[in-house]
Amino acid sequence: MGSDRNGWKSNIGFLLAAIGSAIGLGNVWRFSYMSFEYGGGAFLVPYLVALIIAGLPIMILEYGIGHQQKGSAPLTLARIDQRFEWLGWWMPVVAMMGIMLYYSVVIGWCVNYFCYSFSLAWGNDPESFFFKQFLEISDSVDTLGGLRIPIVFSTLMVWIVCWIICFRDISHGIEKASIVFMPVLFVLTIIMVAWSLSLDGATEAIMQHYLHADWGRINLFAADPARAKAAGEVWAAAFGQIFFTLSLGFGIMITYASYLPDKSDITKNALITSTVNCLYSFITGFAVFGIVGFMAKSQGVPFDQAIKNGPQLAFVVYPKAISLLPGLNSIFGIIFFLMLIIAGLTSGVSLIEAFACSITDKFNLSRTRVVSIVCAAGFAGSLVFTSRGGLYLLDIADHFITNYGLVLGGALECIIIGWIFRARVLREYINRQGTKLPAAWDFFIRFTTPAILIFLLFLTVKGDLTKNYGGYHTDQLIIFGGGWMLICLLLALALAFGPWTAHKLVRRHEPEEDELLV
Ligand code: ALA
Repeated sequence: MGSDRNGWKSNIGFLLAAIGSAIGLGNVWRFSYMSFEYGGGAFLVPYLVALIIAGLPIMILEYGIGHQQKGSAPLTLARIDQRFEWLGWWMPVVAMMGIMLYYSVVIGWCVNYFCYSFSLAWGNDPESFFFKQFLEISDSVDTLGGLRIPIVFSTLMVWIVCWIICFRDISHGIEKASIVFMPVLFVLTIIMVAWSLSLDGATEAIMQHYLHADWGRINLFAADPARAKAAGEVWAAAFGQIFFTLSLGFGIMITYASYLPDKSDITKNALITSTVNCLYSFITGFAVFGIVGFMAKSQGVPFDQAIKNGPQLAFVVYPKAISLLPGLNSIFGIIFFLMLIIAGLTSGVSLIEAFACSITDKFNLSRTRVVSIVCAAGFAGSLVFTSRGGLYLLDIADHFITNYGLVLGGALECIIIGWIFRARVLREYINRQGTKLPAAWDFFIRFTTPAILIFLLFLTVKGDLTKNYGGYHTDQLIIFGGGWMLICLLLALALAFGPWTAHKLVRRHEPEEDELLV
């Protein structure tokens, strides 16, 4: 069956766009901080296990099913079984509402900081600059406290750039942008890593904190129940990170693969995307640990007091380190924030694409109109995160959406494809496209991957019930975390409610003889 979708001009264009989606803000600060927090080199073990058990099998699944059904996530799921269309919507709704609304604001911060780098505007106290002058942060999540105009403007710029890229069709928009952006990103990253490694104190910090393994942190069978529980959290975080970093459970990879030509090597493409993404995280870890090590040494403070969590890593620790550099301080800042802006934009456009393509597929509207409405509404929605209380909201939304939304979506995806569509049928389709998958993949998709994901969800729920995430009050977590997820679910159900144009739901699948014998 031929495809009527305008798609990628080349496989390399597709790969660069998929890698661009995977490599994002999460690779730079999320991965590095997690490595430090969760046992240094030992964190690489759950990370790699998560990649092999969940990341790679699910990426193959998403590429395979998107390629075969030639549709966005809702169209693909509806073609498989209309009862599960809501899950097809849950994924892009989470991408858009749960991630992109705050993600665009963080890219906006990078734009502001890119400009501040020219004059090192953060001065001698980047921490107070970030919280008091830049964010003008409110006392708690309960006080949103009005919008921060510089952030509103930079966020608007981000949405305009995303709109310009997504407005055009895939090959003229996202593919062209990725072909330009990704090589630039790789060059900037190499400069950053080499520069950071050359700094005094960098090598020691890398050896002692990044490559040194604290195995006790990942021992699920530790005799001390508290340590075993803490190890469970590390494993759950590694799986959450794999989903976030590989852009799985968002419907992005399903949508991107739907634009591939009829004969495309699914397994090879999935292997390349996940390997390049995880290697990128590992390599940028050297830059992050190197620069924090340099800063710790220059200030004579211990490494673990120098490194900070989440957004603070990029917006407090880096500016501090940049100011301490012996020379070319502004250039370092410009390169670092430009790197984050590019990494963020190539992920941002994929989050928009997953949602916009779903709407286009279902409601037969023109791409240009849908992209324009989605970007305008997206900008309006992201304003809440540009408020003075935006950082708290962002923190809570990120915790819930990543640890629950994506992991749950991934587990359900495995169950539906593994048991209802049948993993074997999909594997045989994928095998006809090129590189062969071993039969063990079926076992992973049907049993191992969903079982582990559900177990980890259980651990996360248990952890969250024992200790309030981030020290927030229970009612704040329920309203802003649970409430946000509920809104996403209701929107997904509402979008799944309407009917499809009948011919759209014809399942695209040509069974081979051996499948008919099953
Ligand atoms: N995969 C993207 C990131 O890591 C969303 O930032």
